[in-house]
Amino acid sequence: MYYPDEIVEEVRMKNDIVDVISGYVKIQKKGSSYFGLCPFHNEKSPSFSVSRQRQMFYCFGCGAGGNVFTFVMEYENYTFTEAIKHLAERAGVTLPEAEYSKEVRQKESKRTKLLEINKEAAKYFYFQLRANQGKGGLSYLKKRNLSDETIHKFGLGFANMTSNDLVKYLKSKGYEDKLIQESGLASFDEKYGLHDKFWNRVMFPISDVNHRVIGFGGRVMGDAKPKYLNSPETMVFDKSRNLYGLNFARTSRKSHVILCEGYMDVIAMHQAGFTEAVASLGTAFTEGQASLLKRYVQEVILAYDSDEAGTKAALRAIGILKEAGLTGKVLSLEPYKDPDEFISNLGAEAFEERIRQAENSFFFEIRVLQREFDLKDPESKTKFYREIAKKLCGFSEDLERDNYIQAVAEKYQIGYKELKKLVLSYAAQTGLATPAERPKSGIQKKMTPEENKKKAQRLLLTWLTEEPALYPKIKKYISPEDFTEDLYKKVAERLFDDLDKGNYNPAAIISLFTDEEEQREVAGVFNTKLREINTRSEEEKAFHDIVLAVKRNSYEYYSANLGADVSALNQVIAGKKALEELSKTHISLD
Ligand code: UTP
Ligand code: MN
Repeated sequence: MYYPDEIVEEVRMKNDIVDVISGYVKIQKKGSSYFGLCPFHNEKSPSFSVSRQRQMFYCFGCGAGGNVFTFVMEYENYTFTEAIKHLAERAGVTLPEAEYSKEVRQKESKRTKLLEINKEAAKYFYFQLRANQGKGGLSYLKKRNLSDETIHKFGLGFANMTSNDLVKYLKSKGYEDKLIQESGLASFDEKYGLHDKFWNRVMFPISDVNHRVIGFGGRVMGDAKPKYLNSPETMVFDKSRNLYGLNFARTSRKSHVILCEGYMDVIAMHQAGFTEAVASLGTAFTEGQASLLKRYVQEVILAYDSDEAGTKAALRAIGILKEAGLTGKVLSLEPYKDPDEFISNLGAEAFEERIRQAENSFFFEIRVLQREFDLKDPESKTKFYREIAKKLCGFSEDLERDNYIQAVAEKYQIGYKELKKLVLSYAAQTGLATPAERPKSGIQKKMTPEENKKKAQRLLLTWLTEEPALYPKIKKYISPEDFTEDLYKKVAERLFDDLDKGNYNPAAIISLFTDEEEQREVAGVFNTKLREINTRSEEEKAFHDIVLAVKRNSYEYYSANLGADVSALNQVIAGKKALEELSKTHISLD
C-alpha cells in the first residue's frame, strides 16, 4: 500500500465523482445517475454513467468503470500515486509520506527518476542554448523566425559538440549509469563508454499532457542526416500515446485540433496563434493518439506536408480518425510544403483562411483517388466511379450515405440516381460497413483456460456485489479462502467483512488496490454486467453453478496442496462436506 487506507478513503470521499468527472466529460442527470459520451471509446449516444450514490462510473458500451481514482488514472494516464496526489491537491488534503512496498517503490521510483532525468536534461539543454557554446543553436532558431517567447514556451535547447557532457552532468547529479542509459539520453559502447545520444543539435523537449518532459527530438542545424534524432521509447516515453504540443493544445478551447507532421510546424503554428496544433512524434499517427485526441475534440484538421509522402500519411491518418469516430478535414498548404513554410510566407491570416477552407476528408480521399484515373477515357472514368461507389458503401448510416452520394454526384457530375444504384449494387455484393466500435483494449480479449478458471470466482464476487442479499445464503459454504486467486481473495476478505458489518462500499474496496493492473481488474469485478438470464429458475441455476464451481475449484486446489500446510487439510475436509451439501441444496434468489 502506498498510503494508509484512511487517507486514501479521505481523499476519495472528498472528491465527489460527479464533480470530478464533470470537469472532463459533459454529463447530464437522468434518473439517479448521470450520463454522457464515454471518453474511453468511440460512441454517438451516451452509455457512460456516473453514480453519485455509489461513487462509481461505468460504461455500458466498453465496460470501463471504477471509482474516482480509476477514472483519473485512466483519463490522465496517471499511476495510482499520481492520481491520489492530484486528487488530494484538488480537495486540499495533505498527504503524509507514502509507505511504499519495496516492489512498488522500485517501479515508482524508476518512473519518477526517468522523469527527473528528462527534466534535468531539458534544463541543461535550455541553459546550453544561452551559453557561449550554444550561439550557433540560438541563431539557427532565430533564423527560423522563432521569437524568444516561443523558444521559452517550448523549452527549446541545445546539445553541445562535446559528446559526453550531458552524461557527466547527470552523473554529477547522482544518477547511475544504468538509469541514464535507460532514459535514452545516452548509449553505451565498448569504445566510448557511456556517451550522449544528442550532440550538436537544437533540442525539442517532448512533454506529456501534464507538461512533464518524457523525451526529446534533436535537429541538426545543417543538412546532415538524420535531420531529426528522437529519444527511443522508454518506460515514460510511449510514442503512440503522446502528441507533441498537446500539453498546450488541450487548453486551447477550440473545437478542433490541427494535426501535422513536424515539431517545427507545431511551434510555428503556436507562434502564429494556432495553439490547437499538435504533431505525432517522428512516427506515423496511431490509434492511441486518435483516442487521446477524442478526449478533447470532435474534429481533427490535418495539415500534413503537401508532397506525396504527406498525402499518403494523411490518407492513413484519415482512416484512423474515422475508426476513432473523429471528423477529419484536410487543409491545403499549396504551394508550400508544410505549415511552417506556409506561415512564414503568407502569414497567420492566410492560414486561418485555409483552416476555414479545409476539405472534408472524404472529398480529399476521392480527389487523391482521381489522380489514378484518366477521366477522358470512358473505361477509366467508369472504373473511377466504381471506386467512388465502393467507398460510399463505407457509410453505414443511410442518411449520411445518401448525403454523400448527393454531394459526390454534384461535384463529379454523375447522375444522382445512377450513382445511388451503383452504390446499392456494391452494397448488395459486399454488405455495408458496420459502424466501427472499438472497445477498450483488454476488455474483450479472448480468455485462456487459466483465465477461464478465474471466471467463476470473479462472477461470484460480481453477483454478490450486485445482490448483497445473497451473501447470507452462501456464507456457510464459501469463505475468502475459497478464492484461490490472490486478488479475488483480498476482495472477498474485505467484501465479506463489509457485508457482515452491513456497510458494503464498492468504491472504497477498489481503492484498496493501487497497482494499475490490479485496480483495473477489481474495478472490473464491480462493473461486469451479469448476462441477462430469462427466468428466475435459470438465474438460480446459474448462480448455483457458480457457487459450486468456486467451491470445487477450491477443494481441488487444497487437495493438490495437502501437506504443504495444516490448514489445507481442514479446508479439504470442510470443502468436501460443503460440496456434498451444496449439490443437494437449492439456493433461492428471492
Ligand atoms: P520533416 O522532414 O517534414 O521536417 O519531418 P520538418 O518538420 O519540415 O522539419 P524542418 O522544418 O526541416 O526543421 C517531420 C517530422 O518527422 C520526424 C520529426 O518528428 C519531424 O518533425 N523526422 C523527420 C524524424 O524523426 N527524423 C528525421 O530524420 C526527419
Ligand atoms: Mn519544415
